[in-house]
Amino acid sequence: MKAQEMLVLGIESSCDDTAAAVLRAGERPEVLSSVVAGQDEDHAPFGGVVPEIAARAHADRLDAVIDRAMAEAGVAYDELSLLAATAGPGLIGGVMSGLTVAKGLSLSLGIPLQPVNHLAGHALSVALEEPVDFPFLLLLVSGGHTQLVLVEDEATFQRLGTTIDDAAGEAFDKTAKLMGLGAGGPAVERAARTGDAARFAMPRPLIGRKGCDFSFSGLKTAVRQAAEEAAPLSEGDRADLAASFQAAAVDHLARRTAAAMTAVGGRTNRLVASGGVAANTLLRECLGALAAEEGWRLVVPHLRYCTDNAAMIAWAGACAFRGGGEAEPLAFSPRARWPLDARTAGIGGGKKGPKA
Ligand code: KG4
Ligand code: ZN
Repeated sequence: MKAQEMLVLGIESSCDDTAAAVLRAGERPEVLSSVVAGQDEDHAPFGGVVPEIAARAHADRLDAVIDRAMAEAGVAYDELSLLAATAGPGLIGGVMSGLTVAKGLSLSLGIPLQPVNHLAGHALSVALEEPVDFPFLLLLVSGGHTQLVLVEDEATFQRLGTTIDDAAGEAFDKTAKLMGLGAGGPAVERAARTGDAARFAMPRPLIGRKGCDFSFSGLKTAVRQAAEEAAPLSEGDRADLAASFQAAAVDHLARRTAAAMTAVGGRTNRLVASGGVAANTLLRECLGALAAEEGWRLVVPHLRYCTDNAAMIAWAGACAFRGGGEAEPLAFSPRARWPLDARTAGIGGGKKGPKA
């Protein structure tokens, strides 16, 4: 049966990006507009995302961002067939801002609302660019999440591994901050270009340990100790430390991905890498080499769909709505935690929160 075509407005506000997008959802998604307003300047003085500031910034910007997405798409509000909004996991104030606006629009326009799991958005985002057959293995690596997920279909996700402490992007961000480098992962990557990755010994997390979980807190500590011992850091020291950290972090991500590829044993040979850290050149090279070695296909969506955006929320919303939707979307409460995979929820230790 041909999928019914829908015009979907997606809304995303779970972290520090306020985003809205309009999507024509047929058999395949067609992005008509995708607007993302970051909040870097709001949080910069505090050296990290401040939840209260994020919530207020979302509330301040949502109307304008949504209007812009509608105008850029050339779609009128009464033409919309579905509203899709992130309902978790994430910073609760921000999620609440976006979901509340979506509920208001749903009520005033008389259009159905689909609450969306932000992680499902990431998991299905590759479809915005090119179709990848189910099932596929997803490595989701961002500032908030580090997970390996078997995406079985649009509604079935099996989490194979998650971080037991920090997310990969967080480790890049903290390393950058510690060394007084600029903006997070990209700054570490830039500094590492001229560095010697063998100069500083870095631990290889969870080595010899079975499974596909991740850990980045030991690496973070090692970077801090190395920086203290070598202080004051010259530019060369910074480059070497950035390179040593990056090599260890990427090696860890690649090893756990290799373990997951073995774990799914023949069920798929498609690997999708998404999330902000997937922008890292060394990681892309390592995953590319791993995929080639194993005869897998690697797909890394364009950065605009790897990082937080509302087009992926609109698409995941359309898929969930077609799959039956939510009985009482207006009563749906925002969730700080919302594991993708109910079966593995609660497994493992460490901080779970928005990372789960
Ligand atoms: O997906 P994203 O935009 O936001 C969420 O966390 O949801 O990911 C941002 C993360 C940040 O931690 C940033 O430092 C990291 O992705 N990142 C990178 C690179 N570009 C962004 N990490 C390593 N290398 C990069 N080139
Ligand atoms: Zn995200």
